Amino acid sequence: MFILSNRNLLLDAQKNNYAVPAFNIHNLETTKVVIEAADELRSPIILAATPATIKFSGANFLTNIMKTAAREVDIPLVYHLDHHENIDDIKKSILLGCRSVMIDASKLPYEENVKKVKEVVKFARRYDVSVEAELGKLVGQEDDLIIEKGESQLTDPNLAVDFVERTGIDSLAVAIGTAHGLYKKEPKIDYSRLEKIRKNIDIPLVLHGASDLPDRDVKKSIARGITKVNIATELKIAFSEGVKTYFAKKPDANDPRRYLKPGKEKMKELVKEKIILCGSKNKAEVLK
Ligand code: 13P
Repeated sequence: MFILSNRNLLLDAQKNNYAVPAFNIHNLETTKVVIEAADELRSPIILAATPATIKFSGANFLTNIMKTAAREVDIPLVYHLDHHENIDDIKKSILLGCRSVMIDASKLPYEENVKKVKEVVKFARRYDVSVEAELGKLVGQEDDLIIEKGESQLTDPNLAVDFVERTGIDSLAVAIGTAHGLYKKEPKIDYSRLEKIRKNIDIPLVLHGASDLPDRDVKKSIARGITKVNIATELKIAFSEGVKTYFAKKPDANDPRRYLKPGKEKMKELVKEKIILCGSKNKAEVLK
């Protein structure tokens, strides 16, 4: 298959009450982990790259890894730009072949957020690229994006109507009490806010900060209209733990093909668990 936009996948998820997981990847190894797990469970998949990942791997290299990945497996595969703030970077990746982007202008005042998102939507439409944007702000850290507790802001369900209408986005990232990174105390999800947003607007809704979120909260969020679940931190932890365990046993190891293997295995187990949790197992035939 080819790299897809996430539009039809998320619309199907919305119609049938499940979510497509979006896993943050960093390189060839982590990409392979995700596509192998998804292929084995016959799940559609979103592979997400933050600006820091693009900087680390290179936009051209990464897009070509994704193109190859999409040809290697017979499942719907989306390569998605996560939390991108720079419009030129977004345009560059679209021209390279990326078909799904998040423009994150949520730090800006409302009218500037609308303006910036509209500009990306206009460009994206020419290439059939799906666009996600965020209203509200999640506390925590996602690579270079850091929001302190005092700056966080939950999504206003009424403003969401205006935002979606004026920008023409395909999906909306909502702030309902989740946080990027691990939780310092038990998360309190504002389900009535999510229900109001779901009632007010009819496009797919995205949950950021799903690492370390109890399974029951992920399920409750999906039952109330979340159709894309973003997971990053937990995957990094699983990968690193696998590698650390290997080095603890063999401190003199020096072959990346050997010491990366347990990292990949640990991460793959987790990717499979999250696919099952989101209910996207066996949904790979959705577009056929
Ligand atoms: P976590 O790092 O908390 O899983 O959040 C991932 C995310 O929302 C990526 O956009």
